[in-house]
Parts: sequence; structure tokens; C-alpha cells
Amino acid sequence: MPDFSSRDPLAPGFWDERFERQFTPWDRGGAPAELRAFVAAAPASLSVLIAGCGSAYELALMLEAGWDVTAIDFSPVAVARAKSLAGQSADRILQADFFDYAPPRPLDLVYEQAFLCALPRARWPAVAQRWASLLAPGALLAGYFYFDNVAKGPPFGIARAQLDALLAPHFDCIADEAVTDSVPVFAGRERWMVWRRR
Ligand SMILES: C[S@@+](CC[C@H](N)C(=O)[O-])C[C@H]1O[C@@H](n2cnc3c(N)ncnc32)[C@H](O)[C@@H]1O
Repeated sequence: MPDFSSRDPLAPGFWDERFERQFTPWDRGGAPAELRAFVAAAPASLSVLIAGCGSAYELALMLEAGWDVTAIDFSPVAVARAKSLAGQSADRILQADFFDYAPPRPLDLVYEQAFLCALPRARWPAVAQRWASLLAPGALLAGYFYFDNVAKGPPFGIARAQLDALLAPHFDCIADEAVTDSVPVFAGRERWMVWRRR
């Protein structure tokens, strides 16, 4: 691993440095299989927020499906990368902090991928609260959740009981599936999950 100067994953500079130096082991290089199946099966066009989007490969897939998508990231370097990949859809990517961003329209879905596990565990209750406040009853939180108990991170893995404790006050789990195309850093330790806001 390169020797980085920024050690605080709560600071945008931490992520800037890793994108600048192309140390992005979480980056899947495209939209993953379970998400593709979920988008293909969705009964309607959805209003979506991709939080902590990084390269935002999912954006193109969701836009092709006719979804109304906004992708946000607080790292200027991540946003520049995502915009360069998005081409004509670059205006769907915003530099914004997940904890402050106010969507202009009600959301049907928040997409989760390597965002919760990017943040130190002490921040998780605030993430869960924010998810709950962004989504009205019936709306969905869907994506990839990383399960591990190694103290050091990121990625910071969660235990299933801990995830239930975080989300069960606001959400019901309606899908929980094995993942077929993980990148090595998550292999065998992540699940595709869909949680519905109560
Ligand atoms: C591990 S990366 C995952 C990126 C992308 N979701 C993926 O799977 O490739 C975590 C991302 O979350 C972003 N991030 C962390 N805290 C954030 C916050 N408070 N608001 C917005 N983005 C944040 C980082 O800048 C980084 O791009």
C-alpha cells in the first residue's frame, strides 16, 4: 500500500489522495451484477441518490433505464473522475456531503455501495439516521453491505446483528443475497440487500 499523508476517512482529502494515486481497491470498474438484475426487474422509473459515488459507474445503467439519478461525493477528485466517465450525463454528479445534501425531489431509492464501510463505525448511527430521513415509507435502501470484524479500516466491516440494530428501527429487510462478482477486497464478505423504509 502506498504511504498516504491523509489518515482520516471523514475528510474529503483522504479520498482525494487515494483517487489521485489510483489506489482504489473498492472500485468495481462497472455496475455490478445484482444491481443490473435489480434495475432490469424494477417495475417503474425510480428517483435515486447514489451517495459517496466514487467513479459512479451505476449512473449510466440507471439513466439508461430511465431513472432520475443524482450521484454525490464530497471528494473533488472523485467527482472529477465520475464526471469524466459520465460524459454528457456529468451534470447528474454533484460535489456534496451526504450529511448535508437535500434532494430536490422525494427519493424512491438510495443506492449503497462501499459508503457505509468507508466511514468509521462511530459514524454509522448518523448514516442510518440520514438514510431514514431521506426516504419516506415504502422507499428503498438497496446495495452492497460488507460484513467483517477487522478493527482497522476502511473498509470497516459490520456484523449482521449490528446492521440489524442500525436499520431495523426504520427499515424491513426484503432481500438478502450472495454476491457473484465482488472485487477481491470484498470477496465472500458482502451481501446484496434491499431494505424498505417503514
Ligand atoms: C470506498 S469509496 C466507494 C466509492 C463508490 N461508491 C464505489 O463503490 O466505487 C467511498 C466514497 O465515499 C465518499 N464519501 C465519504 N464520505 C462522504 C460524505 N460524507 N459525503 C459524500 N461522499 C462521501 C468518498 O469520497 C469516496 O468516494
